[in-house]
Amino acid sequence: MKIAGVPYRSIWVDEEDGWSVRIFDQTRLPWAVETLRLTDEEQVAQAIRSMQTRGAPLIGATAAYGLALALRRDPSTENLERVAAMLGETRPTAINLRWALERMLEALRNQPPERRAEAAYAEAKAICDDDVETNRRIGEHGLELLRGIAARKQAEGRGGEPVNVLTHCNAGWIATVDYGTALSPIYQAFDEGMKVHVWVDETRPRNQGAALTAWELGAHGVPHTVVSDNAGGHLMQHGQVDIVIVGTDRVTRNGDVANKIGTYLKALAAKDNGVPFWVALPHSTYDPRVADGVREIPIEERSAAEVTDITGRAPDGSLVTVRVAAEGSDAANPAFDVTPARLVTGLITERGRCDASAEGLAGLYPEHG
Ligand code: MRU
Repeated sequence: MKIAGVPYRSIWVDEEDGWSVRIFDQTRLPWAVETLRLTDEEQVAQAIRSMQTRGAPLIGATAAYGLALALRRDPSTENLERVAAMLGETRPTAINLRWALERMLEALRNQPPERRAEAAYAEAKAICDDDVETNRRIGEHGLELLRGIAARKQAEGRGGEPVNVLTHCNAGWIATVDYGTALSPIYQAFDEGMKVHVWVDETRPRNQGAALTAWELGAHGVPHTVVSDNAGGHLMQHGQVDIVIVGTDRVTRNGDVANKIGTYLKALAAKDNGVPFWVALPHSTYDPRVADGVREIPIEERSAAEVTDITGRAPDGSLVTVRVAAEGSDAANPAFDVTPARLVTGLITERGRCDASAEGLAGLYPEHG
């Protein structure tokens, strides 16, 4: 996607030195567009833990390059296994991290050590290229849903109204290598001239909606409105949401969906109001090894300070963190929740759409048995 007319991916190998890895520092967005240069596996791990890089597909791609950086210095099998295990521990919920590391290990284990670094860069690039094409296709399959809503509104004499999409957290291009998952259909709809408007949940505690989704959509010119996380149910009751589309960090064999905390409440409100609730996922987010999402998916618990404090831009332009909770109160910060498959209208994948069910997923991904 483009920033000020210049096309970018969200991760790339530095053109000047040809080996270090560049990412956008997402803790600085939307106030500053700054890149970080990563030169070893420890910096990569720290960038993932601190969420300077984030979003399920992007942390997988970043970890893949983390292995490549580690193998430049020490291509031994021992180092390969050690660094893969270390990077795999950085965040627990998104399965894309494990998926990318397993793909790298499979490609590298049987390579002679002297060829491993080169092979690792090639495999990390292949993971990135795969993600870009996957997300472009997710956009095509989701676009059909948006076209259907636009046609229905037209037939009802409401053709002047936009298609109103509600989304939670950030599943846009900055959460992937490019295009995004949940936002990919929206970008394609906007680019083909459809009237589309996005309700952007602010997504406390880290505000990925207000900071990142709003920034992305704004940069592309897509009309959008930031709302507090609690507004979605009210908007749905008043017919102001045509469809909910969210991303995901892990989809189980049965179609349960882990995503940013608060997603489950949006799904409940959507069910109660007859609003379709769709989840966009690339193949790397499907975890056929897990069935019951509520019981089996590990939910990341992050620092309480993300709840008690909030960071924003002061009138003088500086970044400030202020406390919003009463002094002395404890806070808890579960970062994800699981939406049971029964609340999900359907899944949008690069291979098409399906029911959120074992049958639906097996139909699209038969190779997983
Ligand atoms: O904690 P984050 O910001 O990494 O969480 C991101 C999400 O929950 C996204 O919705 C999900 O990773 C899908 S990104 C295409």
